Amino acid sequence: MRRKLVVGNWKMNGSLAANAALLDALKAGLGQHAADSAVCAPAPYLAQCQAALGGTPLAWGAQDVSAHASGAFTGEVGAAMLADFGCSYVIVGHSERRAMHAESSELVAKKTVAALAAGLTPIVCVGETLAERDAGQTFAVVGEQLGTVLGLLSDADAARLVLAYEPVWAIGTGQTATPAMAQEVHAQLRAQLEQKSAGKVQILYGGSMKPDNARELMAQADIDGGLIGGAALKAVDFLAIIAAAG
Ligand code: 13P
Repeated sequence: MRRKLVVGNWKMNGSLAANAALLDALKAGLGQHAADSAVCAPAPYLAQCQAALGGTPLAWGAQDVSAHASGAFTGEVGAAMLADFGCSYVIVGHSERRAMHAESSELVAKKTVAALAAGLTPIVCVGETLAERDAGQTFAVVGEQLGTVLGLLSDADAARLVLAYEPVWAIGTGQTATPAMAQEVHAQLRAQLEQKSAGKVQILYGGSMKPDNARELMAQADIDGGLIGGAALKAVDFLAIIAAAG
């Protein structure tokens, strides 16, 4: 039985004051849930997360990482720096970075390797656009995105990933993949992981997951949790999704 994992992706939202209020409410409301949980904050707020969340069951992480270890890479943040601030997780290959920062699957794979080398758990995001889904290319697209990452990893390192299926057309749109649609893709991703002896990797669903649809999505055989955008910014909603996960 794989443990459930619920991760909030704050994206480029928050402030010291707003984060403090959100983290206080999350800590107060977290209780004894069976699911693991984490928030992925903008890099400047990782120290705040470390101070607020150290010693609590809520883990924290970043939203991106450099493929390089250190050096002349102005503006980039290295995986060891994230580890210095107690991060457990880092999101890599989010569709917003693939689309707006032209991140290729090859770059996402290198970032995954860099994160693993620093002892972080990469949350590798894959997902198709609406045009790709309509053209019947969903499985080819996510298969290539995952395959390129797995191609750089040993079986042992592949087993250390978290994977997130985020259909691009469902992100921030209020349009969710039906549980059956998501499960179909998750099952294919699971089969691909099994070829690397990594079938136990948690596969999260992301894309307009809310308290009212979370339970049904996470009840699917291969959906092991959620990667939550908008609903992670409201403590009551994020806590409800964690509760729905078990
Ligand atoms: P929304 O939950 O706002 O659709 O965002 C999903 C997402 O992109 C999480 O990484």
